[in-house]
Order: sequence, then structure tokens, then C-alpha cells
Amino acid sequence: MKKNHIGTVENIQEINKNVYSIEFSSPTLEKISAGEYVSILCDGLTLRRPFSVANFENNTTTVLFKKRGGGTEYISNLKIGDKIEFSAPLGNTFTIENKKTLLIGAGIGVAPLFYLEKKLNEIGAETFFAAGFLSESDIIEHDFDFVSTDDGSNGNKGSICDYLEQIIEEFKPEKIVSCAPHPVLKFVAQTAQKHKIPCEVAMEKVMACGIGVCRGCVISLKKDGKTQNATVCKDGPVFNGEEVVW
Ligand SMILES: Cc1cc2nc3c(=O)[nH]c(=O)nc-3n(C[C@H](O)[C@H](O)[C@H](O)COP(=O)(O)OP(=O)(O)OC[C@H]3O[C@@H](n4cnc5c(N)ncnc54)[C@H](O)[C@@H]3O)c2cc1C
Ligand code: FES
Repeated sequence: MKKNHIGTVENIQEINKNVYSIEFSSPTLEKISAGEYVSILCDGLTLRRPFSVANFENNTTTVLFKKRGGGTEYISNLKIGDKIEFSAPLGNTFTIENKKTLLIGAGIGVAPLFYLEKKLNEIGAETFFAAGFLSESDIIEHDFDFVSTDDGSNGNKGSICDYLEQIIEEFKPEKIVSCAPHPVLKFVAQTAQKHKIPCEVAMEKVMACGIGVCRGCVISLKKDGKTQNATVCKDGPVFNGEEVVW
């Protein structure tokens, strides 16, 4: 499948302070699977910036992003009708299977889980989506089943990790999938392992080449008793939580 695409911005809006939703269409990108990501060329920057896919339909990709530096500043200033150059699809995918699945997202990490939830619901899989945010103003609007905020300004007070045992006890998932900051991912993966529930985690690392060459995004996995390296950009971003060396 063609990897480089020129898209057209169909919609862009600031959904929360410094958090944006952008939709761009491209006739050359016909399919992208949940878990795969896109890498956007930003004017004046050599390295493309990677983003998860929050939705894809009718050749149109939705990305939710937080403004952090030059790349995201550039994307946030795009207007409807502007051209956007990006590579896609990149990386591996979540496994789509008809299992009772608990989705755990924190912050902007909810984005790839939106698309996964849609794909799981399409095949009839039961899902429970629990999301954690710092505060009410950080909540990304969605029909979540459970919300916590660190400061208690909306939903349950505390980290989403504080409620994981309770949610597992009540929902009894056959599988857990998470995308969140590293400490949350680690906690989710280790809790899943304790309960012997299969777990997939979507990892994030600051990337350089994005094609598995520079080794800048390497993590360690343990497989068959041996430790081996894997790149988040090419071998990931989705990994078996039990195999990641945290
Ligand atoms: C597979 C993958 C999927 C991603 N999906 C999303 C997504 O859906 N939405 C989204 O908002 N971001 C996502 N990211 C992170 C996104 O790629 C970075 O936020 C972006 O590259 C920053 O570019 P920049 O030029 O604006 O900032 P830079 O100038 O590159 O960095 C500015 C500051 O932000 C810090 N920073 C950079 N990347 C990250 C990061 N990943 N986490 C925390 N701090 C960071 C830098 O250390 C620096 O201090 C993803 C990353 C990966 C690897
Ligand atoms: S970013 Fe270069 S190997 Fe992953």
C-alpha cells in the first residue's frame, strides 16, 4: 500500500485547551487498522511527527493531538482546505477479537482506543471504556463507561489505576487494552498479568527515523525466557503487556 499521502484538511478544532482534533482526507489512503499510526510532515522540521488514529472512514483520518512543540504547533495552525503530507499506515495493529474487552486510556492516550472500540463493537465484542484525566477541563468528550480525574473535579477522584481492581472485579474482562503514559501502562500490564488476563499496550516513544533504523525508540521484550530489543516505530506500537520489560 502507498505509504506517502497528500491529504486535505476537512476539519480542525481545539476541543480542549491545547488539544486539537484534525480530520484529513486522502484518496490514496483506503484503509488503516486500529493501532496503526500516521506520521505527519511539519513545515520546517525534518522528522515527521507520529500520531495514533482516533477514527478512519471514507478515506478520512481523525487524529487527536496535544500541542507540545514546533510540530504540533504547525499542525494546530492548519486550516480547512490546507494540504497535509503524511505517511501511513505505519506500525502494527491491535488484535481485533470477539472478547469482553476492557479499554483503559489516560489523557490523550484515549485516542487510539476510540478507533479500537469502534472496530470491536462492529464485530459484536462487548467493551468497557475507562478513562483517566488530570482534571475536568482535560476530559476528551466521549461516551465513556467510567471516568476518573486526579483532582476529583469530574467523575471519580484519583488516578484510573486506583479503580482498576474494582473495574476488573465488576466487568470481568477477558482482555485488557491500554494506551496511557508509561507508569499507567506498566501498572495496567502488571495488574492484568496478576489476574492472568491477556493485555495489549500501545507504547509511545519519542521517534526519530520512524522506520526501525536509528534504534532511537527501542524497548526490551522478554520472549521465551530471553530478552530482546524491539522498536516502537516498526515492531510496535502495540505490544503484549506481559512481554514488555517495564
Ligand atoms: C506511536 C505514537 C503515537 C502517538 N500518538 C499521539 C496522539 O494520538 N496524540 C498526541 O497528542 N501525541 C501522540 N504521540 C506523541 C506525538 O508524536 C508528540 O507529541 C509529537 O511528536 C510532538 O511533536 P512536537 O514537534 O510538537 O514537539 P517536540 O518539539 O518534538 O517536543 C516538545 C516537547 O514535548 C516533549 N514530547 C515529545 N513527544 C512527547 C510524547 N510522546 N510524550 C510526552 N512528551 C513529549 C518533548 O520531550 C519536548 O519537551 C504519539 C507518539 C507515538 C510514538
Ligand atoms: S525511530 Fe528510529 S528506530 Fe524507531
